[in-house]
Amino acid sequence: TPRTYLVTGGAGYVGSVVAAHLLEAGHRVTVLDDLSTGFRTSVPAGADFVEGRVQDAARWLDPAYDAVLHFAACSQVGESVADPDKYWRNNLGGTIELLAAMRDSGVRRLVFSSTAATYGEPVSELVTETDPTAPTSPYGASKLAVDHMITGECRAHGLAAVSLRYFNVAGAHFSPGAGAAYGERHDPESHLIPIVLQVAQGQREAVSVFGEDYPTADGTCVRDYIHVADLADAHLLALEAAVPGEHLICNLGNGNGFSVRQVIETVREVTGHPVPEVIAERRDGDPAVLVASAERARERLGWVPRRPELSAIVEDAWSFAQRARDQRATDRSGATR
Ligand code: UFG
Repeated sequence: TPRTYLVTGGAGYVGSVVAAHLLEAGHRVTVLDDLSTGFRTSVPAGADFVEGRVQDAARWLDPAYDAVLHFAACSQVGESVADPDKYWRNNLGGTIELLAAMRDSGVRRLVFSSTAATYGEPVSELVTETDPTAPTSPYGASKLAVDHMITGECRAHGLAAVSLRYFNVAGAHFSPGAGAAYGERHDPESHLIPIVLQVAQGQREAVSVFGEDYPTADGTCVRDYIHVADLADAHLLALEAAVPGEHLICNLGNGNGFSVRQVIETVREVTGHPVPEVIAERRDGDPAVLVASAERARERLGWVPRRPELSAIVEDAWSFAQRARDQRATDRSGATR
């Protein structure tokens, strides 16, 4: 049956991809976004759009929504170390208002974008949801605080909630038929794979490798990269799996770690372009290794990633980057005419 969903942050990378998947599955979607980091043009064509802040959720929250998918947040580890206040206000403050508005309007189902950054420096090779949470950045701490808040809301007020703890999301989604493409575009670009692709496209001279003295095989940080479309699948499953009074927390990753150097090498192979690298200082707040066990997501959500290989993830990110470059060229030639 078609349902009606509110997607906060649906003009951002992950939010827009999930909104597109919901629409493709036949549901109705309203996107709420303040366009502080998202783009109006990223909102899928079939969605209603409200420009506004999560802090004002009470104004937008329609009791007719079957659930809220909450993506709107600040999401940069480095920035959060430099400007922690921004993270507490937006991520924690915004969600306090959202949960109150949901309670008042009787919307009792929530899927929340949590993060691997809630764990901090891992204690085991594969991070499980029962591992200790000791975030190394205000970003991770703010997301962990929201997770605690949701747990309390489920227990006290019967909310049905699933927090999905993303490891490193990458790749792009291409809508079947319509030709619409959804991918990563931050301005300025902040994440490793799109930055390395910009170097491959000749838009940047080199990629800075943030630290080569970590206790890992090649000295660079190791991360677990997950395809954004696989991540979207998990959100649709989570909407069905949510149980009143229970807060289910699931990691989402592929269980394979790749170092910064391995990612750069994969980009060279996929694109056929040389990618110069320079060694830079460590970035504050970065754990050395973060790799997921997603056993719980497989068991509780029935989630099976369809594109787990790093090369497949990079190929889709590359297709998106090439399309975006062609689009910019068309826009420019249009503008000079
Ligand atoms: N890196 C570089 N050079 C760059 C950019 C990144 O060496 O120019 C390194 C980072 O130091 C890190 C790795 O590449 O070791 C990945 O960095 P990203 O910024 O792409 O991603 P993060 O691991 O910092 O963070 C991402 C999301 C978070 C999430 C986290 C979980 O942004 O929201 O993954 O692993 F919490």
